[in-house]
Amino acid sequence: LAAEFGTPLYVLDEDHLKGRARRFLAAAQAAWPGAVVSYASKANSSLAVLKAMHEAGLEIDVASPGELHAAIAAGVPASHCHLHGNFKTRADLEYAIAKGVGQIVVDSQEEIEILAEMGAKVPLLMRLAPGVDPKTHAKTSTGQADTKFGFNITNGAARHGLKTMLDAGLDWVGFHCHVGSQIMDGRPQSAAAGILAAFSRECAAEFGIWPRILNLGGGLGVRYKPSDQPVDVTTYHQAMADAVREAWGDGPAVQLSHEPGRWLVAESGVTLYSVGPVKTVPVQDGTRTYVAVDGGLSDNPRPGLYQAEYPVRAIPATGRTHEGSQTVRISGKHCETDQLFDGISVPANLAWGDLVEVACTGAYNASMASNYNRYPRPATVMLSGGNARVVVRRESLDDLVRSEI
Ligand SMILES: Cc1ncc(COP(=O)(O)O)c(C=O)c1O
Repeated sequence: LAAEFGTPLYVLDEDHLKGRARRFLAAAQAAWPGAVVSYASKANSSLAVLKAMHEAGLEIDVASPGELHAAIAAGVPASHCHLHGNFKTRADLEYAIAKGVGQIVVDSQEEIEILAEMGAKVPLLMRLAPGVDPKTHAKTSTGQADTKFGFNITNGAARHGLKTMLDAGLDWVGFHCHVGSQIMDGRPQSAAAGILAAFSRECAAEFGIWPRILNLGGGLGVRYKPSDQPVDVTTYHQAMADAVREAWGDGPAVQLSHEPGRWLVAESGVTLYSVGPVKTVPVQDGTRTYVAVDGGLSDNPRPGLYQAEYPVRAIPATGRTHEGSQTVRISGKHCETDQLFDGISVPANLAWGDLVEVACTGAYNASMASNYNRYPRPATVMLSGGNARVVVRRESLDDLVRSEI
């Protein structure tokens, strides 16, 4: 693939990601008949992925007009999309409503007031901050009380927001929460599910109306390293369903909804890089070897953003044989230090022209890529039934200046 399509190259396995989607949906529906699963498209919003998720029976969560535009371009009806975001402008809301978006997840009092002014007819969920500590990386924690997302329950913001929506005659249909990302044991999600259900009861007592939908967000983790042991998807769904049942009591029928991103696509993708210069430099207690690869910060900002780790494997160039081993630091080709991975074991004779495969890059890599240092973003190749096809072409140098006047 590297020889045919060049590097750096994102590779996705369509059968694998559709299989993950179907597995997640089946587990959700086994735990809660009629449950709906939306794919959080921020994880990877290339059109081929959106289309595959739609074909696997998922709805699509979009966090911007751009993600909605991509979903529609991939053939997903707007009515199967849910719009998120802590700051949706009036123009964002108008765009989504004009396109016929299925649901909007409201995030602030100001947003409710704009929707009321617009006389919006779209079904609305209210995002709640359930005050749960997800015990994951601070950069991907969103459900705790100290957050920019959603309405706080304990300080009365959520009650006030709900009252405003009901008084304005808006089409409020339910509550939403998302507690964080790369969560291994699912307990924060179950805790949040129970809090949403309990708050629903309180609101029913106060306002005489129950939510029809509880959207419990996403956040189930994947295996980036051997110590990552995410809970089994069946147990994950069962625990959330049990938490809702316990707090919901004899309330009316409600639909459970989920919006995973990473779990669906991360493990379906790898990135291939070519090895460039290999340098050994003196350090305080010996030497360090730097292996440069032809990508980095621009195609995978996660190591730089929050020290994300990945499985890394060296592959010899055609005709070469790898021998021995050494521990190296793998760096990218950008300015800053652009360190991708430290303490990686690679063959002792790894050299220019060999390949490095970084696994588990299907989520939050292509969708977070940039053109830093004016590097074109990589191509994406999709494998399906043993065949490879380019689904995102490599950007050209002309693409890099296309929008400039
Ligand atoms: C509102 C919302 N839903 C779903 C997700 C998907 O999370 P994950 O990819 O961890 O499943 C996110 C991710 O940040 C999110 O912000």
